Amino acid sequence: MIPESFISDLLNRVDIVDVVGRYVQLKKTGANFQGLCPFHNEKSPSFTVSPTKQFYHCFGCSAHGTSIGFLMEYSGMGFVDAVKDLAQGVGMVVPEQDDKIPPAQRAQMQAQSMALSEAMNLAMEYYKTQLRSAPNAIAYLKGRGLTGEVAARFALGYAPDGWDNLRSVFPDYSAVALVEAGLVIDKVDEEGRHIKRYDRFRERVMFPIRNTKGQVIAFGGRIMEQGEPKYLNSPETPLFSKGSELYGLFEARQAIRDAGYVLVTEGYMDVVALAQMGFPHAVATLGTACTTIHVQKLLRQTDTVIFSFDGDKAGRRAARRALEACLPHVSDDKTIKFLFLPSEHDPDSYIREFGADGFEQQVSEAMPLSQFLLREAAGEHDLDEPEGRARAQYDAKPMLQAMAPSGLRLQIVRGLASMTQSTPGEIEALFELSKPVAVSRKAPARSKRQEPVGLERKMIRMLVTHPSLALQMDADALEACRHFGQEQYDHLLHLVQLAQSLGPNGTFAALAQQLKEQGDGYDAIIGEIAATPEPEIETERLFLAATVRELKLQQVRDEINIVMEAINTAITAKEPTDVLTTGYRELKALEDQLLREQEADKSFR
Ligand code: UTP
Ligand code: MN
Repeated sequence: MIPESFISDLLNRVDIVDVVGRYVQLKKTGANFQGLCPFHNEKSPSFTVSPTKQFYHCFGCSAHGTSIGFLMEYSGMGFVDAVKDLAQGVGMVVPEQDDKIPPAQRAQMQAQSMALSEAMNLAMEYYKTQLRSAPNAIAYLKGRGLTGEVAARFALGYAPDGWDNLRSVFPDYSAVALVEAGLVIDKVDEEGRHIKRYDRFRERVMFPIRNTKGQVIAFGGRIMEQGEPKYLNSPETPLFSKGSELYGLFEARQAIRDAGYVLVTEGYMDVVALAQMGFPHAVATLGTACTTIHVQKLLRQTDTVIFSFDGDKAGRRAARRALEACLPHVSDDKTIKFLFLPSEHDPDSYIREFGADGFEQQVSEAMPLSQFLLREAAGEHDLDEPEGRARAQYDAKPMLQAMAPSGLRLQIVRGLASMTQSTPGEIEALFELSKPVAVSRKAPARSKRQEPVGLERKMIRMLVTHPSLALQMDADALEACRHFGQEQYDHLLHLVQLAQSLGPNGTFAALAQQLKEQGDGYDAIIGEIAATPEPEIETERLFLAATVRELKLQQVRDEINIVMEAINTAITAKEPTDVLTTGYRELKALEDQLLREQEADKSFR
């Protein structure tokens, strides 16, 4: 089980507008976003996404849910996969199934990651300072055509010769944070005993890698002479995961917006050299294949992604991997292209030889994804032979299956059909492409429980809308809810406890997600909340108090009636009524007090 606290943290971190926006074209309308519902056919948009509620709702087919729910319904992913997918996007790690880390320890881990961030920052400052007094490193960078300005933009630095220079940087060189941040290496003997600690980066030009928030999360260090490895990188750490980070993305963000596209290269130096030459909208993968997470990250910044690959064999292989990473993200409002530089060139060397204009020219001639895909399918097969054509279809099949239905997919199917002497229909049937990706929604399970009405319903609505209000429900207030009857009371109690467990920052989305997982039959109310403007929490707080008071009043009156009846029976039976009348007076006093409070509240409003 993934802990609920993780789910609610996750829902706090991801933005549903981003998540849905990847698949549905959204337009801002007032406080919300609107688009065509992906779950039913429609011509005018009735699908809304609320950033404040972190919830989507369709007025047409009443589909609704959180970011998690959307991914599950749209892509057919299971719950765990959807959670993992979202977590990856915001750099959170889903706790393992048998992960029983107590909250206190989790908090400590959080604090530790802060410590890592600080360590990385200190190290970056140190390397930067060292560069100023390292003539050989400065000469190296100058030799590669870089000015001080660009070096500063990328916070380039230098790790000097020596095994433990960082000792002078950190008050405690033996701190765990240093090894966890990947700045030092602990050497251990054969029995696993720790022998000594030394700096990971020595005598290298340092390239800090930043996340999209600008925090330094890793380094790449280049050797200046010949030697292996040419680039030494930070290991995977709690801060850094190669498969989801892109070098230069933070620095390039504004330029990407200005240019309207991003260029993806393969190397640190490509990014820096392109920026130097007036081409600041480039990023690089970090010595790894391009992943779907990379693509997703890029498509969040811009609609057009152009990959550039070195003209060598490795470059071609990398291009194929990038193509595969792109397929799940293909849609008709996005453009993805592939640029193959002449062999022996990378973007750095090309722009130096042919200038920014020459490079721009190459970019403008980049190959569209559809063409590259068909070229990959054709491969070396002999398309004059039936076997060759069948083989091309066979190779294209997994690629087309990885794509969601779109106009572009249809175009590629047509291209493949004509290339292989088939019809689009034959291809679609052969590849089983007719299945839409978005799975159709299951009808919500009907709960046997009686639908709550009146005050009970109002109360549930308030608690689901603002779960933190449950914290003001004390034992007295809960007691008053018995008025609704045992079964309803049990359900309400469960809801209150669930809402309370989310704490003071509990959100509608987090609670809705939990209720959905438990199949608790709150679907109608959740849909209703999703479809209406969010009420102010302070107003709701007063309303809830008033509702509880109303319940208490009804309960007191019920009791008064019972006591009155008992008094009447006692009188008829000529039995003493003292105790009963005392009880009656007390209840009456309570009723009076509640009524006075109610009056006070009314005049207050
Ligand atoms: P390249 O070998 O193509 O280097 O590696 P480059 O970027 O052109 O660098 P220069 O121009 O020689 O300085 C491309 C990328 O692969 C990763 C790095 O991210 C590098 O930028 N790489 C390469 C490593 O991580 N380690 C290596 O030893 C080599
Ligand atoms: Mn290079």
